[in-house]
Amino acid sequence: MIRAIVYKSNTGFTKKYAELLSAETGLPYYALSENRVKSGEPVIFMGWLSAGKIKGYSKALKKYDVRAVAGVGLRAQDSAALNELITQNKISDVPAFYLRGGLDMNRLRGMNKFLLKMFYKMMSDKAKDGDAEALEIVDAYRNNKDFVSLENLKEMLDWYRSAL
Ligand SMILES: Cc1cc2nc3c(=O)[nH]c(=O)nc-3n(C[C@H](O)[C@H](O)[C@H](O)COP(=O)(O)O)c2cc1C
Repeated sequence: MIRAIVYKSNTGFTKKYAELLSAETGLPYYALSENRVKSGEPVIFMGWLSAGKIKGYSKALKKYDVRAVAGVGLRAQDSAALNELITQNKISDVPAFYLRGGLDMNRLRGMNKFLLKMFYKMMSDKAKDGDAEALEIVDAYRNNKDFVSLENLKEMLDWYRSAL
């Protein structure tokens, strides 16, 4: 029996997914840093993506019995994003999900903001050549996009309900 949703969020999009998942499943949700769930308990872990890595995942694996993991990023939610998430985070024995979050430059700070600006510069060059994914990222950067939706959680919810 899964005990809780544990998440790590930097600017709030992963937290929104944790809230939505909690509302749908009735599971409580806590930030990883809160340390509210006892070691060894079965949990669902959700973390934001930075350079392909799910932040907090390795810590969560050491502390909890992670029964499913979700990575929240900016890129489009499709099977290519999920496959990369699985390889880059060496996920082998738990169900994994990729969820599209968003971008809010006003909430980014320090090194993360700097890195995102560099990434934006790269993407705007690609966008000039008509690259569709780059165009979307440039749009998200300029307009602070939020892609969080219940619809995006559908597969994860289907998994949860079937695992009950
Ligand atoms: C430094 C940095 C690196 C990022 N790397 C990725 C990435 O590799 N893949 C991706 O899809 N999104 C990437 N993003 C976008 C974030 O994962 C996205 O904004 C996410 O919704 C943030 O979630 P949060 O609000 O819970 O922190 C990156 C963002 C930053 C600031």
